[in-house]
Amino acid sequence: MTFPKNFLWGGATAANQIEGAYDVDGKGLSVTDITTAGSLNEPRYLTYKLNGKLEKTPAVPGAGLPKGAVGTIDPNAYYPNHVAIDFYHRYKEDIKLFAEMGFTTFRISIAWTRIFPKGDEEKPNQAGLDFYRRVFEECKKYGIEPIVTISHYEDPLYLSEKYNDWQDRKMIDFYVKYAKTLFIKYKGLVKYWLTFNEINSALLMLNSFGNDVVDNKAYQHAYQKLHYQFVASARAVKAAHEIDSENIVGNMICGVVDYPLTPDPEDVLATRHVMEQNIYYCGDVQCKGKYPTYSKRLWNEHNVHLDITEQDKKDLAEGKVDIYTFSYYMSNVITKHKVEDKVSGNFSAGAKNPYLKYSEWGWATDPTGLQYYLEVMYDRYDLPMMVVENGLGAIDKIAADGKIYDDYRIDYLRQHIKAMQKAIDDGVDLIGYTTWGCIDLVSAGTGQMSKRYGFIYVDRDDEGNGSLDRIPKESYYWYKKVINSQGKDLD
Ligand code: BG6
Repeated sequence: MTFPKNFLWGGATAANQIEGAYDVDGKGLSVTDITTAGSLNEPRYLTYKLNGKLEKTPAVPGAGLPKGAVGTIDPNAYYPNHVAIDFYHRYKEDIKLFAEMGFTTFRISIAWTRIFPKGDEEKPNQAGLDFYRRVFEECKKYGIEPIVTISHYEDPLYLSEKYNDWQDRKMIDFYVKYAKTLFIKYKGLVKYWLTFNEINSALLMLNSFGNDVVDNKAYQHAYQKLHYQFVASARAVKAAHEIDSENIVGNMICGVVDYPLTPDPEDVLATRHVMEQNIYYCGDVQCKGKYPTYSKRLWNEHNVHLDITEQDKKDLAEGKVDIYTFSYYMSNVITKHKVEDKVSGNFSAGAKNPYLKYSEWGWATDPTGLQYYLEVMYDRYDLPMMVVENGLGAIDKIAADGKIYDDYRIDYLRQHIKAMQKAIDDGVDLIGYTTWGCIDLVSAGTGQMSKRYGFIYVDRDDEGNGSLDRIPKESYYWYKKVINSQGKDLD
């Protein structure tokens, strides 16, 4: 069991979770910049002014502000992404550490607001463009292939306020202009692009609140937003190919596998319907270039009437992605029966699976689910695939000898690498693996630093204290061995 020779090994991050420097060199505010810290029990909040009064509303990645609200930084709140792990000033040190681990790829995202601070400017911000050029050149120095997410949960605040979180067709043009700027400026430096991080989270997160809590309006909002994003993505794919035929563009899906709790046919059917809504819907449009048959049922369920034109349909058909990429952390269980033991995590909620272990944050460890997901999706789309996020969020402690013994993380990753091997053996064309948070970063869900994923420890706590020093963990040396042996030595 070996991985293909050119298999890409590396790690993944997102601009807002690592860079910090939130107001440096002309950067505009993004939605994440007005998102406070949370915890396991306390949500993160978006802070804003409405009629002059400072208010807050629970934040979920990708969600917007209430109508008429003006995103505002509350001087009394803590915003962990403002400094994050200061990658903006320490990227050289970090990329060197990745190179020493043997990375052949590094997934990073671009902060839209560094390039277009408000989102609708005529000309891009040169200082922002220069920063990413330096980062990509640094990667090149070590032979590291960047995989770049164009939009990772950080829309420009100005656009989000003005166009109510993608409820306006104009958003398509702003996004396409931004994407084209990147393709032109970084031609020759970047060839792998992902259009929207976990695009399906717009639907997934509604499901996690339960249909009894979420009304039709929320679904109508999500489906319309997705339609504009699908068109924006398709037009970006076309532009990427026109600008450089070497470009390879992928979608990015939050991959959660759903299992029926019982063999009751109602549970089995419900599970299929949940998969259709939450997972297949976005993948089908982006990979097959058209809406699937079951869309009608989904739209009817929530009285959705999309603003969709003939040109949109043409764009979708012409802008199919080249590769299918996804994050994978856990699986979820669906049932129509009443259950006592419920769990929720990673935008999903369901019954507890008695066969799996759960993390402190309620995320199930299920490597078999990864194999299952790879096999099902490869059959469905027949496209090369990449696992662009996978990892275990855990609390790490520095031992008396100054080291970090994160054997639980090694164990999690080992099991998932084995699952990938099995899928490859079964014929899946898997071309790369980037573990999530290859260096500790700010959690998207909770805003914590203490929910750590990295191979490299960053000295910073949940209140913003710490030297920001980097310390390689045990898993750092283990992953180095894994990469050096092309996935053979997993001990
Ligand atoms: C994915 C996101 O949902 O999961 C990342 O793409 C995120 O941005 C990751 O950080 C892990 O989630 P969390 O909430 O533990 O940070």
